Amino acid sequence: MELNLKKLKEQALKEIQGIRNSEDWQKIENKYFSRKSGELAKLLKDIKDVSEDLRPKLGSLANEVKEEISQALAQKKADLGMESEQELERDFIDVTLEIEKYKLGHLHPLTQVQNELEDIFKSMGFMILDGPELESDYYNFEALNIPAWHPARDTQDTFYIESKDKLVLRTHTSPVQVRAMQKYGAPFRGVVPGRCFRNEATDASHEHTFYQMEGLMIDKDISICNLIAVMKELLAGIFKREVKVRLRPGYFPFVEPGFELDIQCLICGGKGCPVCKQNGWVEILPCGLVHPNVLKAGGIDPQKWSGFAFGLGLTRLVMMKYGIDDIRLMQSGDMRFLNQF
Ligand code: FA5
Repeated sequence: MELNLKKLKEQALKEIQGIRNSEDWQKIENKYFSRKSGELAKLLKDIKDVSEDLRPKLGSLANEVKEEISQALAQKKADLGMESEQELERDFIDVTLEIEKYKLGHLHPLTQVQNELEDIFKSMGFMILDGPELESDYYNFEALNIPAWHPARDTQDTFYIESKDKLVLRTHTSPVQVRAMQKYGAPFRGVVPGRCFRNEATDASHEHTFYQMEGLMIDKDISICNLIAVMKELLAGIFKREVKVRLRPGYFPFVEPGFELDIQCLICGGKGCPVCKQNGWVEILPCGLVHPNVLKAGGIDPQKWSGFAFGLGLTRLVMMKYGIDDIRLMQSGDMRFLNQF
């Protein structure tokens, strides 16, 4: 038995030395280590039949032989570079496989229109400004000629923040008018795109959170003609087709005179629908000549300077441009809606 073990070892080591490739290696490994039919398994089985006093010695010799053959096989494996071959097989990447096409996102339709508008206004020499969404009661109302007792406050109910600074979520972008006058003085041309908030019962054309774009131009002898010219340029630039407009008197404490510029509803073509509240026109561009009190609040002398201002309903303009019949879709985050733009 002892002799058989030694012979087996010598034979195995010789055969291992003769191995030339991974196929040979696998054969030899099977020959000696196969669980059922391997040479080592057979010998170990035979040890069971040996008398009990010889068994421990033969057992440990068999283990030594097994260990030596196994080490020789491992060494050969490394010499042949089989480990890196296996690694390569495991980490193989098929670069020709079809993969799911990479999906590119795009800007929200509101941002697209805002960018277009900014370009139009920049081409007319307007600055693009920003202002705080959490605004003081002073800039949102007082400085715009709307004192605390003024009934016009009721038309712009909002969310009030309990604080000693009397902060509100701004109801319009108009507070940036006075901020801009204070910062840049006169003459001045600027637009302010931004988010506004109101305590609204929402419907197809009203949201609690929506976008406006404020416009302000201050110079010598500014009149309604300047105002109308800029409005026309803006609408032609955005709709790229003729849009019917109407100008009617409108009341805002911070302009005098004040107007509402409406466009004929592009959803129903003027026949009447939920967006235009069945009257065929959509209120989109309130505007007017800046009230002297507002100029004064901005530190500008109303005797020397005059100006116009407008507050474009940006969200509603986007609805008109793309025929969107419910404002609530705009901020729904619904991909079926957004993927259309
Ligand atoms: C104002 O907010 C004035 N600051 C506009 C202004 C600026 C007048 C400068 C004169 C000079 P008004 O409350 O009408 O006005 O709102 C302006 C526009 O914002 C509306 O025409 C409408 O298009 C849009 N808008 C108002 N409330 C909502 C709302 N809840 N949801 C969606 N759009 C709204």
